[in-house]
Amino acid sequence: MAPRKIIIDTDPGQDDAVAILLALASPEDIDLLGITAVAGNVPLELTAKNARIVCELAGKPETRVFAGCDKPMKRKLVTAEHVHGKTGLDGPQMQDPTMPLQDQHGVDFIIETLRSEPSGAVTICPIGPLTNIATAFERAPDIIPRIQEIVLMGGAYFEVGNITPAAEFNIYVDPEAAKIVFGSGVPLTVMPLDVTHKALTTKPRVDAFRAMHSKVGDHVAAWTDFFERFDMEKYGSEGAPLHDPCTIAYLIEPQLFKGRHINVEIETQSDLTLGMTVADWWRITDRPKNAMFMNDIDAAGFYALLAGRLARL
Ligand code: BDR
Ligand code: CA
Repeated sequence: MAPRKIIIDTDPGQDDAVAILLALASPEDIDLLGITAVAGNVPLELTAKNARIVCELAGKPETRVFAGCDKPMKRKLVTAEHVHGKTGLDGPQMQDPTMPLQDQHGVDFIIETLRSEPSGAVTICPIGPLTNIATAFERAPDIIPRIQEIVLMGGAYFEVGNITPAAEFNIYVDPEAAKIVFGSGVPLTVMPLDVTHKALTTKPRVDAFRAMHSKVGDHVAAWTDFFERFDMEKYGSEGAPLHDPCTIAYLIEPQLFKGRHINVEIETQSDLTLGMTVADWWRITDRPKNAMFMNDIDAAGFYALLAGRLARL
């Protein structure tokens, strides 16, 4: 099969960085058309810079990186330096990238790519707030039916929230954008916290990255060590969830994941539950099914895939 054409929409973030590395390490499965940065974990200036740091680390400076929206559609930006550190990629020593940021706005790149590629040929992988994607949908609704699939990290149901008691970070930051995407009719595959909280960076798994004795392996180990501290303290778990690479792993080995095709709505009104993904897991309503909502992962298989692929870089 020909590699799948994808756009990664991202707010790096250590776990975003690992997702980008996994995609760049997998050319037989993934044809990365471009990376669009969005404000999220840290402000846009940093996410656009971090995406390029990661491409250079992978030895792929020819990857096209675009800066997209610098704030949510209707709200003030909420960031997550408390998890990811001041730079968004705290952990290892890093140098500023030398590869250029593309001149085109990320939203324009998304629109232009979907119009120029054959209909049904491009998959979008959002691993940050959904601002760029929803803005593209509002500006150019003709692109919506041309998307093959959206495979995103966001939301939670049984695991409820990580930024509020009810909401997961990516959806909470821009709930209006999430509502547009979940209501768009595009086939959605969702990796919520229910999945990612099972993809924990245990010590042997991080040691496997370090044992690669490569720049990439050392960076990934240092990044996971850094953001592990926060999550281990919070959840009392044996490691931190590596959220975002679940999306790319799904494109490569979908059999690692299990879920249900259900209705998922986004809360945009309530102060208490803003950004909640109201997932009809038990199929209580007859609201239309709009998402393949995952809830399980073969974590050993996922980490084996990651270690195998990242060792190539
Ligand atoms: C999501 O929020 C960010 O902090 C991570 O990069 C991930 O995309 C997890 O809730
Ligand atoms: Ca992210």
